[in-house]
Amino acid sequence: MNDSRAASYDFVVVANRLPVDRVIEPDGTEYWKGSPGGLVTALVPVMRASGGAWVGWAGQPDLTIEPFDNDGIHIVPISLSEAEVETYYEGFSNDTLWPLYHDVIAPPSYHRVWWDSYVTVNRRFAEATAAAAAPGATVWVQDYQLQLVPRMLRELRPDLTIGFFNHIPFPPYGIFSQLPWRRQIIEGLLGADIIGFQRVADASNFARAVRRLLGHTTRGNTIWVPGASPRTVTAKAFPISIDSQGFEELARRPEIQERARQIREDLGNPTTVMLGVDRLDYTKGIGHRLKAYGELLGDGRVSVEDVVLVQVASPSRERVETYRQLRDEIELTVGRINGDFGTISHAAVNYLHHGFPREEMVALYLAADVMLVTALRDGMNLVAKEYAAVRFDNDGVLLLSEFAGASDELRTALRINPHDIDGMKEAMLQAIAMPKAERRRRMRAMRKRVLENDVARWSSGFLTALEATRS
Ligand code: G6P
Repeated sequence: MNDSRAASYDFVVVANRLPVDRVIEPDGTEYWKGSPGGLVTALVPVMRASGGAWVGWAGQPDLTIEPFDNDGIHIVPISLSEAEVETYYEGFSNDTLWPLYHDVIAPPSYHRVWWDSYVTVNRRFAEATAAAAAPGATVWVQDYQLQLVPRMLRELRPDLTIGFFNHIPFPPYGIFSQLPWRRQIIEGLLGADIIGFQRVADASNFARAVRRLLGHTTRGNTIWVPGASPRTVTAKAFPISIDSQGFEELARRPEIQERARQIREDLGNPTTVMLGVDRLDYTKGIGHRLKAYGELLGDGRVSVEDVVLVQVASPSRERVETYRQLRDEIELTVGRINGDFGTISHAAVNYLHHGFPREEMVALYLAADVMLVTALRDGMNLVAKEYAAVRFDNDGVLLLSEFAGASDELRTALRINPHDIDGMKEAMLQAIAMPKAERRRRMRAMRKRVLENDVARWSSGFLTALEATRS
């Protein structure tokens, strides 16, 4: 590398996506804009303080860009060809690992060419990271797209301290063992010093896979990895969170409260606004919640004048066939419900297939009496935490799937099994009729948890544990 600052970063984050998006104006001007995800919010201060670099893909195919500095962070873009976007990103990451790790809700596809591409791209990430990291640096690898990077990196740079965090579930062995490359994945991850998971159950699923596939000894959170230089690896739950204060601050702004009031008015000031906010993904149980609401309308237990549903479904992975099918199914269902129950003045479902800025999301959360998080499987589900952070009025009811990681923490939510449509209908009715004192009691407890355990606490907890592994 001819970059004079190469190999000089003490803290390197490696993630499939960069924390910046490339924007091209209609007049051809190009610039990079920060993307405001929770991970970025948590890590940017750490990176600025410690000379940090971020290795990731710029999100477009065939784009080769030299490393550059942006807002105090060194950005190392990884180039993916059009074919690699299909095989590594859409294919192996999102049509093999994603459905497999989410309890095979959709059938995973196993293709050897996709696997080969996953190996090639993971190696590219590992090599770029090895070139950017200073001697003895700390590297934090993120998520299922990059599970081979820890081991590849350790082979290239044994001096590094390596952490890995899996943002999605880690499946039970009976499911994981379907994967033809299950052993390579486990060995890849074991290159890290600490492997973080969302839930205790994910960490124990991983430890079991290690015992079954490699025969290593594990006790509690510790895994003994034998070899020429035997090591121990920690596999442990570090539940991720959000920038809770940032969300609450937005919610307290008068113009956002005014916007929330206006949203309710635009919806015809119904008694109850129910809200769903998801990436349009088959793991989120959007169809299940529509079914429950549609049946309540059909049974005459709620009416469109009194109870409306707003469903924000942001576009996601649109070139993957399962996602295309899902979009068709959801839009068919929304059309049917609106056709059957809507009136000239009231639609039953307000369906919005686009993303919104954070300000608008906060206004929607404030406007919603009932928040529906009905995932069939979800690593954490940050929407649930965002709703709690925003509701400084201690009001609003959260319906939360027991299959979302967040339900381990938000114990006072109305917990539901999204497969049980009758149970979900009863929970919706309970939420709609819940007395104010009970809403307040439940929301206060959730807010306490979310405000205490924010994303800064999460990242410092992980990084402190990682530093403690240096001997
Ligand atoms: C999940 C994954 C992330 C991913 C995000 C958006 O939250 O855990 O790693 O970035 O979905 O998906 P995309 O495929 O657009 O990056």
